[in-house]
Amino acid sequence: MHVFKDYYHNTVKLSFEEKPFSSHPKHVWAICRYQGKWLLTEHEDRGYEFPGGKVEPDEEADQAAIREIQEETGAVVRELTYIGQYQVLGREKVIVKNIYFADIEKLVKQDTYFETKGPVLFADLPRSIAKNKNFSFIMKDDVLRQSLAYLEKNGLIR
Ligand code: GTP
Repeated sequence: MHVFKDYYHNTVKLSFEEKPFSSHPKHVWAICRYQGKWLLTEHEDRGYEFPGGKVEPDEEADQAAIREIQEETGAVVRELTYIGQYQVLGREKVIVKNIYFADIEKLVKQDTYFETKGPVLFADLPRSIAKNKNFSFIMKDDVLRQSLAYLEKNGLIR
């Protein structure tokens, strides 16, 4: 279990075990890979981030991840792999989010990308995301760093 503060100084607990905080988390986040590049979305307010969002009442978390990826980037998922879960102790509420790795099959152009400006591909992620105002706060804590290390260690990315 990793415990640290996020960009807003909220306490985050992160684990790569099977659903340690909730069996039915209400949030999802997916690290997406397409043709050897990172696939992000550009959120209208927050900036660049991996796609994600809230699980709807009639959905499973895995379905929500596939839907959010499609809505925010137009991507079709070839394979979705659960990698971990984190809990954010916010001022008003506690949220739990599943983290996935998504292998993307293709990108299909959309008329709308919901609250985002759509897909953005990065050959490499910049080193200093934490100081980069174009990136979303959800990319600025140890969740991203630890998740990328996990993907590398488990042979999911090369
Ligand atoms: P509504 O229920 O639609 O009002 O959503 P909300 O604006 O309250 O946001 P949400 O429930 O998505 O998240 C609540 C708080 O949790 C946010 O204000 C953030 O501080 C925090 N949060 C959400 N997602 C993340 C995340 O991926 N990382 C971190 N560090 N904090 C997050």
